[in-house]
Amino acid sequence: MAKPQWSEAFSVGDVEVDAQHRMLFELLGTLMELAAKPDATRRELTEAVHGLTTYARVHFDTEEELWMVRAPQHYVGHRRKHEAFRARAAELERDLEAGQPIDPLMLAAELQAWVVQHLMVEDQLLKPGAA
Ligand SMILES: [Fe+2]
Repeated sequence: MAKPQWSEAFSVGDVEVDAQHRMLFELLGTLMELAAKPDATRRELTEAVHGLTTYARVHFDTEEELWMVRAPQHYVGHRRKHEAFRARAAELERDLEAGQPIDPLMLAAELQAWVVQHLMVEDQLLKPGAA
């Protein structure tokens, strides 16, 4: 699985949100690398997932403020998408901490698919003039 690469094409035209999106890609890259390592421990994996989901939660709060300013008509719908991620992230973290059997590559792929689709497609309506 290739590491996701952020590019200027995905900028939403806000310095803070763009910086946070870059950081999410970095954290995702770290998780992808770890998931591909046969000797990665469950603790390392749990910490990488926790790092990504914790940062995502903080980022959603910042981004939702921008949605209110730039595209309030999409605020509620977009917030629901963030809520769905928060709920799924909590479930994955519970499973990891409870010692449930997990496939690290499947776990990383699921998080990557959501983050990449969300940032590269859904968040693009945040660009000035896009909504
Ligand atoms: Fe978003």
